[in-house]
Amino acid sequence: MYHNGMKEPKVSTGGGARSLARFIVFEGLDGAGTTTQSVLLDDRLKREGRRSWLTSEPTTGPIGILCRRVLSGEIPADPDTIAHLFATDRSAHLNGADGIRQHLDDGYIVLCDRYKYSSLVYQGAETDVDFVRALNARFAVPALVVFLDLSPEAADARLAARPTREIYERIEFQHAVRANYLREMEIAGRETRVIMLDGTEEQHALAEKVWEAVADASIL
Ligand code: TYD
Repeated sequence: MYHNGMKEPKVSTGGGARSLARFIVFEGLDGAGTTTQSVLLDDRLKREGRRSWLTSEPTTGPIGILCRRVLSGEIPADPDTIAHLFATDRSAHLNGADGIRQHLDDGYIVLCDRYKYSSLVYQGAETDVDFVRALNARFAVPALVVFLDLSPEAADARLAARPTREIYERIEFQHAVRANYLREMEIAGRETRVIMLDGTEEQHALAEKVWEAVADASIL
């Protein structure tokens, strides 16, 4: 991990003892490109003949759909309830039938577009982060966290092209989210591998760096 500037990818290797092998998580601000990069990695893994499962949070299951309705502003909810909702969605995603653990047990490389770090930084910006940490404490640690970093202004410029905005897609909030990410990636780096990459890089060049990070993490 590193803190100054975004030119060189930095890695923290962490302890890794409790981490789930072959489980890779993408994190970043809204507009950072986690979806694009997780799709590109999934494509490449499949081209190389690997069994890869691409998934995301909030999920497409019933609780994830409820999360989306809260995110759109359609269903109002207080911050603690939102933290519970995301944690419930994650529990089903991780432990439920056809979930993350099941796919790992079946030998897949699992790629997840957002995971518990999103709760720590987004819900942690609205309510007591230690409460959010407690809600997420039992969720397993991935083998690799890819954090795509960029300024809230750069992210906001990308979101401007979208027709609607979700409740967290406001620049002041994204500033708080980025500060929280820098803190949480540092903490995560004590127990697993975290790589921080420049989210403003051209997508294929960035995908190459993600690929190298996956190879370096001995996941391939
Ligand atoms: P994302 O899938 O990146 O949005 P979109 O598909 O609209 O580009 O993320 C959805 C939003 O959900 C994003 O603002 C972050 C938020 N979120 C949380 O607040 N907590 C969580 O635990 C998760 C997984 C996501």
